[in-house]
Amino acid sequence: MADFVGALDQGTTSTRFMVFDHSGAVVARHQLEHRQILPRPGWVEHDPAEIWENTRTVIQTALATAGLSTTDLQAIGITNQRETTVVWDPRTGHPLHNAIVWQDTRTDQITTALQHDSRGQMIRDRTGLPPATYFSAAKAQWILDNTPGARQAAHHGHALMGTIDTWLLWNLTGGPHGGVHLTDPTNASRTMLMDLHTLTWDPELLDIFTLPATMLPAIGPSTQPGGYGPTHPDTPLAHPNGTTTASTGTGGSGTGGVPVTAILGDQQAATVGQVCFAPGEAKNTYGTGNFLLLNTGHQPVTSHAGMLTTVCYQLAGQPPVYALEGSIAVTGSAVQWLRDQLGLITDAAHSETLARQAGDNGGIYFVPAFSGLFAPYWRADARGAIVGLSRHTTAAHLARATLEAICYQTRDVVEAMHHDSGVTLEVLKVDGGVTTNHLCMQLQADILGVPVSRPTITETTALGAAYAAGLATGLWHDTDELRTHWHQDHRWEPTWTPRQRDHAYTGWKKAVERTYGWID
Ligand code: G3P
Repeated sequence: MADFVGALDQGTTSTRFMVFDHSGAVVARHQLEHRQILPRPGWVEHDPAEIWENTRTVIQTALATAGLSTTDLQAIGITNQRETTVVWDPRTGHPLHNAIVWQDTRTDQITTALQHDSRGQMIRDRTGLPPATYFSAAKAQWILDNTPGARQAAHHGHALMGTIDTWLLWNLTGGPHGGVHLTDPTNASRTMLMDLHTLTWDPELLDIFTLPATMLPAIGPSTQPGGYGPTHPDTPLAHPNGTTTASTGTGGSGTGGVPVTAILGDQQAATVGQVCFAPGEAKNTYGTGNFLLLNTGHQPVTSHAGMLTTVCYQLAGQPPVYALEGSIAVTGSAVQWLRDQLGLITDAAHSETLARQAGDNGGIYFVPAFSGLFAPYWRADARGAIVGLSRHTTAAHLARATLEAICYQTRDVVEAMHHDSGVTLEVLKVDGGVTTNHLCMQLQADILGVPVSRPTITETTALGAAYAAGLATGLWHDTDELRTHWHQDHRWEPTWTPRQRDHAYTGWKKAVERTYGWID
């Protein structure tokens, strides 16, 4: 009996495959990092072929290590780094260019021009997004404009575009041998090409970015009970000798492979994993960046404070659920920068021990605006700054200021979210790698003045993709059943006085202003 569901979590720095049982417990996992290709300042690329190869390996290794077979899986869900854009030749499966990653700022001139004319407001109204380098549309345009032969190939139907979910689904369902070219509304809502109200590609937006409609995937719901298409025998989801899935629900497609029954962008998946199913429920994920999503129900709420309006999920046969999102580009990756570029710490955990050596930030603020500033500022011209330095400043102060920067940026987003939605946060539900850093989480509670709560399972992104896949197959009955899985593991209460909090935050706001205007 196939009682498990798998989650393929393709993130910015690594690819992992995890298997969950009916209680939501992890029974298998494997993870591989991939190269960060940094050809010039501000440019970030990934090799799509490497990502696909790692995908194959992590699925095979996770199953083999746990003594499982594909026939033990009812279904899998795909979750992925969003916005990162791949263009490939469907005849060969070869990418025409490396994937351009969400953090990449090379499309600055295209998006800044749009910000400053009437098209900027039109884009905001239709897509819920401000014109910014973050989103996929201008990345795809850049590939067509700068790769020899790419535009011509696109016009002849020899170039497909996709976010990473689409690239992986296409490969899992056969690639050049009939791969399914499809995405879900959570990923489509990050391209700056989808009308947020109709969940369809907008022809006027395609014109603005000079992209032929034939390049774009179909948009299907975030869950698909029968699977999005037959899994190809030459993939790690194929059953041994073509046996069929002994599914307990509707998930077994009988095609000789595990069906993909869910697709969700990684931050939306984490929102599902944190069981934020009701309007007003929110989570904050601490990864390379931070992403705070607030469920707003069936209504897309327009932001006036620099938040994004995005699709949270669309379960098969149901209307979409929307979210407001505060996206912060650099949080955990600022800690990585301390390790890799400055050699100040040996690993992420060291950032906590070093920062604890300083009782406070010694009067310094570090604004890690490496990719400009995302929410709520949207300043492509910003670059990182450390301000308030004196002879008194030590490495410990810088480590502490780095952790504080993660928390101040979250406060910026929480304030903007409150402005837009009127929702006052009672407690901040957190997940992601940085939440193992107790000092950082304590600082978060202090800087926000709101308790911070971490669940027992912090792998909420993979969990959310597995939940969606298992809802589709009937492994879980409904979202109420999933709620019973959520348990608090740790809670941090605020300890700062309101005066202390206000004083510190005023310093942060001053520091942020010092980062503007470094790029023309
Ligand atoms: O929007 C970018 C986001 O999806 C990346 O998430 O966890 O891969 O850094 P992560």
